[in-house]
Amino acid sequence: SSNQMWGGRFASGPAAIMEEINASIGFDKKLYAQDIRGSLAHAEMLAKQGIISAEDLKQITEGLNSIRAEIENGKFEFSRKLEDIHMNVEARLADQIGLAAKRLHTARSRNDQVALDFRLWVKEELVKVDAALTALISVFLARAEEHADTVMPGFTHLQTAQPVTFGHHCMAYVEMFGRDRSRVRDCIERMDESPIGAAALAGTPYPIDRHMTAKALGFREPTRNSIDTVSDRDFALEFLSLASICATHLSRLAEEIVIWSTPQFNFVRLSDSFSTGSSIMPQKKNPDAAELVRAKTGRINGSLIALLTVMKGLPLAYSKDMQEDKEQVFDAAESLELSLAAMAGMIGDMTINTASMRKAAGSGFSTATDLADWLVRELGLPFRDAHHVTGAAVAAAEKKGVDLAGLTLDELKAIHPEINDGVYAVLTVDASVASRKSYGGTAPDQVRFQIAEWKKRV
Ligand code: ARG
Repeated sequence: SSNQMWGGRFASGPAAIMEEINASIGFDKKLYAQDIRGSLAHAEMLAKQGIISAEDLKQITEGLNSIRAEIENGKFEFSRKLEDIHMNVEARLADQIGLAAKRLHTARSRNDQVALDFRLWVKEELVKVDAALTALISVFLARAEEHADTVMPGFTHLQTAQPVTFGHHCMAYVEMFGRDRSRVRDCIERMDESPIGAAALAGTPYPIDRHMTAKALGFREPTRNSIDTVSDRDFALEFLSLASICATHLSRLAEEIVIWSTPQFNFVRLSDSFSTGSSIMPQKKNPDAAELVRAKTGRINGSLIALLTVMKGLPLAYSKDMQEDKEQVFDAAESLELSLAAMAGMIGDMTINTASMRKAAGSGFSTATDLADWLVRELGLPFRDAHHVTGAAVAAAEKKGVDLAGLTLDELKAIHPEINDGVYAVLTVDASVASRKSYGGTAPDQVRFQIAEWKKRV
């Protein structure tokens, strides 16, 4: 049978395989609410401009509202023959109200319609991601406040570097997720333009009011170029880019949790609600949620690359290739939301083993830099010489099997004769972190200052 939307030109219907490759209803039904909202605003505008009658508007409005209810009550029958959400809704409207339904598509095309629906969806999703990021940031702020004085080793190359506080480490993630949140807000700001009224690609001869629809749909303004409007998927690419960057942060965090929760590190203990056991090894407590967050980053990155690749060769304006945008964004959005929520739960719940952290903070000659700084400050050595003397002290301590504070004053004097017992005060981890008072440094007071600043921002 010929198509009810464009049957005029066609003598027969599509091959089964054509229908299968062409249809998007399987996934774009997710856009039903945005599609109906967009159609309501469009119809409202058409009536106000005298393009359709008030009676048509009334029927269209009632019809669309009842279709939304049918979909939400699971009573709507989606049909693959009708390709996508736009035509499924419109065909159902025609069943219900006849002629008026056929006037709804005046001065519009599925090209601007899908651009509108998808933008509305992505914009709503960005608001959800913003909230999820804020929730995660709040969890980190609470943990940072609790542990502003908890010393732990800071690492570079995953080798013990200098003592830091767990609060400071938490605040590093607050900064990362804070930047992610600002990318979300930038993205909303940039995409806040209404596509509807661009029509197929060239605009329309009807006297439409795009400012009216833009306002009704909550956009700042209408887009300015009809060709760009139906060709543009930057907003989706930006969503996927910020999702990938955020997922990268989540993945690094996940990796740290995996490492920290090993018996070898034993820095944190995951709660029972955020870990799993082994079906064979009774002793195991596995960080599966962290591992899955780490893995979902792969999916999200994959979605970004997939859509970039779809878009890269497309001539202006719309091509059907662009139908492939939605599944990537839906999948990435679902993974990102799940990961953010899982991380907030895990971080909020986990026990911090302050004793293990403290023990590890003091091992691995973590205060060697403090010794070098003491030699500079107290004995006036140039930093490079102080570095050399400290290196000799580390070698001596390693040979003796002790940490730096375990060397006697005589042993230290043998390395540099002017060293006095004042040096022992800087070799403790607490003295080390307290000394790093530079702006943004790990000293507990600095960390507390940053926590207070961030609390004003959440
Ligand atoms: N399902 C289509 C999509 O997702 C809607 C737009 C179709 N436009 C067209 N000219 N065939 O892109």
